[in-house]
Amino acid sequence: MDNFRQRIEGLDLSLFDKVHSQTSPNDKRSFLAIEAATGELTDGFTYLEIGSYLGGSLQPYVADGRCGRIFSIDLRPKESADDRGVSQIYHDNTTARMLENLRGVDGADLSKLTCIDADVKDIDPSRIDPAPELCLIDGEHTDEATWRDYKFCREVMASNGAIVFHDAMIIYNCLDRIVTELASEGVKFRAYNLPDVVFVVEIGDFPLHRSQSITDMLTNNHVGYLHSLKFTDQYRRFANRWPFTAIRQVKARFTGSNVTK
Ligand SMILES: C[S@@+](CC[C@H](N)C(=O)[O-])C[C@H]1O[C@@H](n2cnc3c(N)ncnc32)[C@H](O)[C@@H]1O
Repeated sequence: MDNFRQRIEGLDLSLFDKVHSQTSPNDKRSFLAIEAATGELTDGFTYLEIGSYLGGSLQPYVADGRCGRIFSIDLRPKESADDRGVSQIYHDNTTARMLENLRGVDGADLSKLTCIDADVKDIDPSRIDPAPELCLIDGEHTDEATWRDYKFCREVMASNGAIVFHDAMIIYNCLDRIVTELASEGVKFRAYNLPDVVFVVEIGDFPLHRSQSITDMLTNNHVGYLHSLKFTDQYRRFANRWPFTAIRQVKARFTGSNVTK
């Protein structure tokens, strides 16, 4: 086994050292486990990413010999809507800057990378060839945009593959919509959360979950579960302030109960 493969399979976080990624150490471990498992399931694969910013989440792929082709889609806006309620502001958000960063990654092969500066609604799906087995959605963090990104990925991806979402604790309404639609259409799929906030949808026959590192993460699912609840705790703390609690108390007294039967 070559050194790079050993590092990926060992979930070696130093693979993310060269370019800053807007992800936690646990997210990065999950990404590496997914990349390693994709390598195991395929004889070489294509990776598509929506939302690359500085290239942080791309860096382990540009150096991975088993990943033969990469598509990076990024609209490169200065400001992006976000379902946390406050827009995200991106400084110096250019593809040129990202490419400069990625050139510094050991073993990087940028000849396999195609960058598309656009929103998926303006991209001709036929540009995505070969079909990706693995997609990451980490672009505009709204339910609406994530749904668009998901539909695009479904259209262009291989029949057996996986779509991975970052920041699941923000775009969870869209994830619920996706899972509901897949179930109602009778599509073969599996969906689960990995630490901290990485949501995986396996479509068709693409059992990433069978790889040991993903199985271990799934068995210890308290990590992502508690992380996501603690993130949303800020909203509970807000809702539990006066006057909201007082209004709820009055309502409970008025209606006679607040206990669900
Ligand atoms: C959270 S950052 C991506 C972080 C990156 N994946 C990492 O690991 O550091 C989100 C990126 O999505 C891009 N973006 C925002 N709106 C978009 C849209 N509608 N379509 C594609 N990309 C978008 C932004 O330019 C930004 O680079």
